[in-house]
Amino acid sequence: MNMRKIALLAAALGLLVAACGGSSTSDTTAPPAATGPGDPVNGAAVYQSSCASCHGGDLAGIDGLGKVLAPSEFVTSMTEEELAAFIAVGRAADAPENMQGVAMPARGGNPSLTDQDLRDVSAYLKAQQ
Ligand code: HEC
Repeated sequence: MNMRKIALLAAALGLLVAACGGSSTSDTTAPPAATGPGDPVNGAAVYQSSCASCHGGDLAGIDGLGKVLAPSEFVTSMTEEELAAFIAVGRAADAPENMQGVAMPARGGNPSLTDQDLRDVSAYLKAQQ
């Protein structure tokens, strides 16, 4: 193999690595896809399956896990859309605004939740205030 071929191969491999690295972070940096208004009925089901384990079945929070979500100033201060965007990203344990030093995982740790599911669970949370 001559030097030119080796250089091309190295460049191709570099692109491949960049493409893989890029896709793993794009989930949290991509703007949320267009969604319709939230459906609190589906939102309640999403909440019980993906959020209740940390935030409690009654939204009262669990010590050392998720915070209280009703009543919650954080939830009331945001629009449904803003809340869905927050849930999509979560809050790192070392983020300056983290209050307990425990992470809120992106999408509640359930990557299969769609942007519409996040709108729905946001509508459900707002309806519980
Ligand atoms: C693995 C546990 C865990 C799961 C699952 C989880 N959360 Fe959280 N969540 C947390 C923690 C911990 C915090 C608080 C972090 C802090 O102390 O600032 C939090 C914070 C939040 C907040 C901000 C509350 C505030 O007052 O700052 C909202 C809203 C929220 N979660 C919604 C959800 C929703 C909706 C789901 C399900 C899709 C979910 N969470 C699933 C652990 C979890």
